[in-house]
Amino acid sequence: MELYDKVALITGAARGIGRAIALKLYTHGANIVINDIVSENEINQNLQEIKKGTNEVIGIKADITKLDEVEKMIKEIIKKFGKIDFLVNNAGIIRDSLLIRMKEGDWDAVINVNLKGAFNCSRTVAKYMMRQKTGGKIVNISSVIGLIGNIGQSNYAASKAGIIGLTKSMAKELALRNINVNAVAPGFIETDMTQKLPEKIRSGLQEKIPLRRLGTVEDVAQVVYFLISEASDYITGQVIKVDGGMVM
Ligand code: NAI
Repeated sequence: MELYDKVALITGAARGIGRAIALKLYTHGANIVINDIVSENEINQNLQEIKKGTNEVIGIKADITKLDEVEKMIKEIIKKFGKIDFLVNNAGIIRDSLLIRMKEGDWDAVINVNLKGAFNCSRTVAKYMMRQKTGGKIVNISSVIGLIGNIGQSNYAASKAGIIGLTKSMAKELALRNINVNAVAPGFIETDMTQKLPEKIRSGLQEKIPLRRLGTVEDVAQVVYFLISEASDYITGQVIKVDGGMVM
């Protein structure tokens, strides 16, 4: 229970990778704030499933693309817990199409959630972390697509490459305040986002992965936990791929 008394905010944590990260940090003793844009009912159902111990888990519905909603959320967290130790910028969306057919709205939506959302949350949380003097940890969820690009995903790849630049800049700016900032770049992970892929594409993907399987949400959550824990205190500004060896 080494995260006992710590407070962690995970964005987009009502399902998928974010939910697994919330569960993992909760299991290690942290108080958890689950943020998502889905209905409060859906968020609350999650809370019931995660809460098994005496540490707290609360849900806050907020759209991370809106700075005023983010600021309100962080104020609520500070009011309740008096501090915030960890931020995991996980919320993300896809709106795939080939470049020449891509609608302006699809470009904007992906950049807004995946990149601006992470900026909104990091900027707001960092102000509190700096004042606290106890430092903190920020983990940004990027993607291997941000490193290698992908057909039909120019908006997504740009947003996830942007996350890497944001991570490195924040790591340099915040290091003296004892705030570590790192990114995790998952490969293909079994979630709602990838479930819709046709079987032919899935098996084709598997052949390109040296470890010969898609990743699980647990594979990603383990690495995020490492980057939150004391075991990673001397690591900042790094991008850790969790992709079964797909991109080397
Ligand atoms: P998911 O679609 O299952 O979950 C994303 C969550 O973010 C959803 O609960 C959604 O409601 C929430 N969300 C969307 N817009 C939001 C907003 N404006 N404000 C607050 N919450 C919002 O996705 P998944 O697969 O769990 O992905 C999580 C992260 O991991 C994303 O950033 C994704 O890009 C990244 N990733 C996923 C991979 C995969 O194979 N599933 C691979 C590489 C990266």
